[in-house]
Amino acid sequence: AIDPNFDQNREQVGEENGVAVWGPVEPPEKLGIHGTHVAVDYDICLADGACLENCPVDVFTWVDTPDHPVSETKVEPTNEDQCIDCMLCVDICPVDAIDVDPG
Ligand code: SF4
Ligand code: F3S
Repeated sequence: AIDPNFDQNREQVGEENGVAVWGPVEPPEKLGIHGTHVAVDYDICLADGACLENCPVDVFTWVDTPDHPVSETKVEPTNEDQCIDCMLCVDICPVDAIDVDPG
């Protein structure tokens, strides 16, 4: 599962599609955690898609992650500033790849 304390345990190493990326990042195998308020662990996400299909405010968009060992697409929390903290994505993800921090 995603580390809920990633913002203390990892360094922000950059930004992609307007969201923060928390390392370590060593493409294509290691892609880090994407997002801060709504955070997706790219090394755990297996592209189930339930988060994207069910988020009431369309926070997520698909991005290609060619040659990642787990899946070749991931969800980017592109609109994380729109999140209403309903926690649906956190509950529905089969591999616990998402952390939402209402704080
Ligand atoms: Fe969307 Fe709710 Fe997840 Fe926020 S907590 S990203 S509103 S599903
Ligand atoms: Fe990935 Fe979980 Fe969404 S596997 S696509 S973060 S439901």
